[in-house]
Amino acid sequence: MKIKENINSIPPYVPGVKIEGKEKLSSNENPLGSSPKAIAAIKAIDSYSIYPEGSSRILREALAKKHQISPENIIVGNGSDEILTWPSLCLIGKGDNAITALNTFSEYTFSTLITDGEIRKAPLIEGKFNKDEMIKLIDSRTRIIYICNPNNPTGTFLPKDEILDLISAIPDNILVVVDEAYGEYGDENFYSCIQEIHNFSNLLVLKTFSKIYGLASLRLGYAISNSELIQNLWKTKQPFNVNQAAQTGGLAAISDEDFVNKSIEMNNKGKEFLYNQLDKLGLKYYKTQANFICIDVERDSKEVYNSILDQGMTIRPCTSFGLNNYIRITIGTEVQMKNFIKYLKVALDL
Ligand SMILES: Cc1ncc(COP(=O)(O)O)c(C=O)c1O
Repeated sequence: MKIKENINSIPPYVPGVKIEGKEKLSSNENPLGSSPKAIAAIKAIDSYSIYPEGSSRILREALAKKHQISPENIIVGNGSDEILTWPSLCLIGKGDNAITALNTFSEYTFSTLITDGEIRKAPLIEGKFNKDEMIKLIDSRTRIIYICNPNNPTGTFLPKDEILDLISAIPDNILVVVDEAYGEYGDENFYSCIQEIHNFSNLLVLKTFSKIYGLASLRLGYAISNSELIQNLWKTKQPFNVNQAAQTGGLAAISDEDFVNKSIEMNNKGKEFLYNQLDKLGLKYYKTQANFICIDVERDSKEVYNSILDQGMTIRPCTSFGLNNYIRITIGTEVQMKNFIKYLKVALDL
């Protein structure tokens, strides 16, 4: 068998490590668990014998109401990971390229390579996506630009004027994917680009139920864009890609404001605690708009990861993101954050 060269070249996905008996703060999951409304709605399902509704119609209608757009502007996927492969399938072939940043979520690379495209990576400047660096990489074969806002793993973001400036600078024959997986954790300075789909025909915004609703293992995400692109993405999706439990749970989660508010509140408290402690320790970190924080440990992050693991917690060394001296930790409960600081001090000999 001859495996295609573009498939051979795909680097394996590096997931956050999960180890029995260790606290897991390595994958930006919700430390408060799942939306109770979602869990109750899933428990109430009494049969799985019929195929799910292939278009996730009811869920799309509810999402449309929430975001004040039309259901025709929405497509739902088995996690936003699944959705990320569709624009490539529609737009990228051999000789084409996509652009993203050097230190960002790896699925943009994966989705480009899988359809035999070339991935180009612009450096972050001061930890942020940078318009000039990205624009420089555009040529006549550029088909997609991926922007992670807020960015995983740095937690940095482009505020309204900067994200709009960047999108405006991209020719409208190039699709701009703005991945807002962590947008709900942002403060008043964070700007969601959802409404901008009416202003930019080449914009697609990506959202997930994995983080703020605590439904990572249910696998549910969605994309928002102009209806013509959505219809084309539709052609590449499996007919029954989103299972019944995910559609039902997601629908219930949307109205679970209590859980969302608690999650944001816990995140804000954890963030302030960490800022305070890290400042006291004299460590550098990026201010975050997400549910994780990226810390400069000024040494091989794997050593720090191993020490924290031995003490009882999995975090993320940022080596696979190209940031060898940084660690990323999900912001957790008060107890988890206190433990983390205790473990970090031991790891860094502070
Ligand atoms: C930036 C970003 N986008 C998308 C995803 C994938 O989300 P989902 O669980 O919906 O596939 C993640 C997961 O960690 C992420 O960090």
